[in-house]
Amino acid sequence: MAHLVSPSLLSADFGNLQRDIEMINTSEADWFHLDIMDGMFVPNISFGFPVIKHIKKHAKKPLDVHLMIVNPDRYIEDFYNAGADILTVHYEACDHLHRTIQNIKSKGMKAGISLNPHTPVHLLKDIISDVDLVLIMSVNPGFGGQKFIPNSIEKIKELKQLIIDKKSSALIEVDGGVDNSNVKLLVNAGCDILVAGSYIFKSEDQMETIKELKKN
Ligand code: DX5
Ligand code: ZN
Repeated sequence: MAHLVSPSLLSADFGNLQRDIEMINTSEADWFHLDIMDGMFVPNISFGFPVIKHIKKHAKKPLDVHLMIVNPDRYIEDFYNAGADILTVHYEACDHLHRTIQNIKSKGMKAGISLNPHTPVHLLKDIISDVDLVLIMSVNPGFGGQKFIPNSIEKIKELKQLIIDKKSSALIEVDGGVDNSNVKLLVNAGCDILVAGSYIFKSEDQMETIKELKKN
């Protein structure tokens, strides 16, 4: 499968959010990546339900919602009602991950698990067959515009092997510091979905940058 691109709205212009959403609608991007931060799991707070609902009204592509919040089980239904199509929780934030994943899927959403840079891939051995995607954090979560951690490439290769060994259909998504310099390596390592925030929104021609990310 050709890889997908999921622009992270964290780096969008929130004063002109509709304009940036329309740009993604008309671009070659596949999903909208929404970063939800609670100031507890990560040292930053982003945005919540009212903003997601407004994004949903204008977005013509699936909402790929990345929860960086403690105990996400409390809000699964609310994220569904706000318009999430894909809901990803952090491995490090869930005590009963299997139950959380089943809850997400029971609402009809795709379920993902995200791993922080220090969390090893092998911990997914007994859950990989239950998930639709795994999001490898290639920076420490919390902020856009950070530097890509090179070890992420090895993690993606290891994850790809685990998916094959377990005959899982999980897709591999990477998030953090993605730009033209690492796209090829990521795709060759087995990455299916590229998240990019600052690289897209800080570029002169955002549509063209998305096109480049798709091409590589
Ligand atoms: C970081 C977020 C990312 C962030 C990526 O915690 O999960 O989605 O927006 O931003 P860039 O692409 O600028 O590293
Ligand atoms: Zn993210």
